[in-house]
Amino acid sequence: MFKSIPESLNRIVILTGAGVSAESGIQTFRGADGLWENHRLEDVAMPEAFARDPLLVQRFYNERRRQLTSASTKPNAAHLALAKLESAFDGNVLLVTQNIDNLHERAGSKHLIHMHGELMKARCIACGETSPLCAASGIDIDPSTNCRQCARTGTLRPHIVWFGEIPLQMDDIYHALASADLFISIGTSGNVYPAAGFVDAANQSGATTVELNLEASATRGAFKYHYDGAATTLVPAFVDAVLQRNASDRPQ
Ligand code: APR
Repeated sequence: MFKSIPESLNRIVILTGAGVSAESGIQTFRGADGLWENHRLEDVAMPEAFARDPLLVQRFYNERRRQLTSASTKPNAAHLALAKLESAFDGNVLLVTQNIDNLHERAGSKHLIHMHGELMKARCIACGETSPLCAASGIDIDPSTNCRQCARTGTLRPHIVWFGEIPLQMDDIYHALASADLFISIGTSGNVYPAAGFVDAANQSGATTVELNLEASATRGAFKYHYDGAATTLVPAFVDAVLQRNASDRPQ
C-alpha cells in the first residue's frame, strides 16, 4: 500500500496537527462552522484577545484543560503508533506537533517538540518562568494564581503560542528537516505558517514527503505522496510499513 517509503531510512521528521487528536474527541481548529469550541480564533488565540478580555481567555483554556484531563480524553491509535515508531525504529524520529494537548506524551512519545506551546503549562509574564499545571497544583489559571518562581499573582498566562507570536524551537526543527530522509505530515490543514512550509524545507533537503490526512490540505501539491483517511486507520498502517522496511534493511 505505501510505496512512498524510501530505501535505507535513517532520519524521520513527523509533523502533526489537530487532526491527529480529533478521534480522541478534541475539536480541530477549522471545523465546519469555522469556530474552535464555539469561539472565533481571534477571540481566544491572539495576544490582543488576552489583553482585551483576559478572564474570557483564561476561562476558555481552563475549560480546554478540563476536557483534556477528563477520563474520556485519551491517546488514540495514531498517537500510540507514533510512539511505537519512535521506540522501535533503528534511526532517529523527531515528532513536531502544532497541538497543545499532551496526548503524544501520554502515548509514550519522548523526542517531541510542541512548537505552539502546551496547554498543561503556564507562563509568567513578569519573570518568564513556565510551570506545569496538574491536578495536584490545580489546572486553572485565574487572577489569584501566583507564579511559583517570582510569587507574583495575576501574571500567569497559558504557555501557548498565539497568532502573531513566535513558534518555539524553530532552529531545532529546521535543523532536523535539513537532514531528514522522510517527512510525514499528519492531520493538519496546511493553513498556518511556519509549519505549513516544513514540507518545502524537507523537499529541499531531498527527503521523501508524505501527507496523511482526512482530505487534501492547502499544501497537498508540495507532497511527493499523499494518502487520504482517518489518522487512526492510516498512521498505524504507515508505521507498520516503515518498521517492516526498517527490519528488512538490517544486515541479516
Ligand atoms: N484524521 C486525519 N485528519 C483529520 C481528522 C482525522 N480523524 N480529522 C480532521 N482531520 C484533518 C482535517 O481535514 C484538517 O485538514 O485535520 C486537519 C485539521 O486542520 P486544522 O483544524 O486547521 O488544525 P491544524 O492544521 O492543526 O491548525 C494549525 O492553526 O489555529 C492554529 O495554532 C493553531 O496549531 C493550530 C494551527
